[in-house]
Amino acid sequence: MEDEFINAMERATKRATEYRKTSAARPPRPTASLEELRAAFDLPLPQDPRRGTEIIDHLADAAEPGLIGITSPHHFGWVMGGSHPVGAAADFLTVAWGQNAGIYATSPAAAVAEEVSARWLLELLDLPKESSIGFVTGATMASFICLAAARTHILCEAGWDLEQEGLTGAPAVSVFLAAEAHATIHAGLRYLGFGDRQKVSINVDGEGRMCAEDLAQKLAAHKGPKIIICQAGHINSGAFDPIPEIVKLARQFDAWLHVDGAFGLWARSVPELEHLCEGAEGADSWSVDGHKWLQVPYDSGFAIVKNREAHVRAMDISASYIKPSASDGVIPSQYVPELSRRARGFAVWATIQALGRSGIEEMVARHCRCAAHLAEVLAKEPDIEVLNEVVINQVAIGFGTGLPVAEQDALTNAVIAEVQRENTSFVGGATWKGRAILRVSVISRETDIAHMDQLAASILRAWEKVKAG
Ligand SMILES: Cc1ncc(COP(=O)(O)O)c(C=O)c1O
Repeated sequence: MEDEFINAMERATKRATEYRKTSAARPPRPTASLEELRAAFDLPLPQDPRRGTEIIDHLADAAEPGLIGITSPHHFGWVMGGSHPVGAAADFLTVAWGQNAGIYATSPAAAVAEEVSARWLLELLDLPKESSIGFVTGATMASFICLAAARTHILCEAGWDLEQEGLTGAPAVSVFLAAEAHATIHAGLRYLGFGDRQKVSINVDGEGRMCAEDLAQKLAAHKGPKIIICQAGHINSGAFDPIPEIVKLARQFDAWLHVDGAFGLWARSVPELEHLCEGAEGADSWSVDGHKWLQVPYDSGFAIVKNREAHVRAMDISASYIKPSASDGVIPSQYVPELSRRARGFAVWATIQALGRSGIEEMVARHCRCAAHLAEVLAKEPDIEVLNEVVINQVAIGFGTGLPVAEQDALTNAVIAEVQRENTSFVGGATWKGRAILRVSVISRETDIAHMDQLAASILRAWEKVKAG
């Protein structure tokens, strides 16, 4: 048994290190087709056991051509961190230890790693020290938890005991959110029993920022319990809502304020960017990812709630066989919707140590400089438009200035397809403000100015090809 572990682990480590050593030089997009991947994985259900080292080799051979180069500095798709090597190594250990971070008793070390990491996160993000943190899969689940705490609390304030009474017949809650709130916010609200009828859509400006004046008017027009959801870091523009004004309105109207800061909240860890997200400490809850700008390997997100009691009330799982004892430390399951789960805190603890405060500051600032550099290079080109104010790491680009929108969209989509076909850098697309955009997110740990120049060259080559028909 021990030999089986040693052999399989050594082989996995060998394959992992070979992969990471070459990841910057690999094409960032998968090279295998769906059919090829199916052929590589789709064996008949095994009747008998197979040797571990053989399985690991088969797995690596089958998977590698179908992997996307998230760990490569040439990856600019979606908004995805580069999985820090030390975090990845800590995750290897986590898996080897086989811990269950459900309660303190099932893994005291996992609970303490989360306790200490939570303190560091609050320091890094400069959020209220009394806040509690749930270590979850990502920002989607983090917002869900924060909004569950919000629902519990505001209904309680309105004299409604949610745990006792359930949602049926509860006071009507109004949820105020920007017209361009992230899709996962709508998903979280749906999981919590809030439909479109409970949502109040707030107008946005050209960067997707919530309009505080519109929010004020709509808050004044609604009675009853209220939740406001604002955003630090718009998925396309990177823009920040006017948080200080929104905080004031939340206090004036006695609303719970949640900040979706999946990646943008990290601006608070960089002195020259702090102003973008100032005032966010005045909110009630925050969702932020570990697996984006902090570079913790997937899956890692943080549900941060100032009111610990509301957080625990919304998430607690109690049963006699998992009852904590008086000497236990934090109980991780009190802050997340899961009982048994992976010990997510070890990789967070290791990644924060590997980067340190200065490493995070340097990396986030560098990524923002990289985005500004790309925007500057491309904006000089005729018929290419940078469609957002580049305030952090996101750049939205359109092609065919002045042409009818349908033609611009066709050109932009053709450029994206050509950059992907060339496969030296990876970018994706989206629709924003009614038009197709090429989206660049600079968020992979090692990305520097030279990688941006290579990306710009790839985009310009693609553009020349598209123009030439
Ligand atoms: C603003 C915002 N909120 C939420 C999410 C969802 O995050 P995750 O995919 O980590 O759940 C994202 C993802 O990009 C995002 O940009």
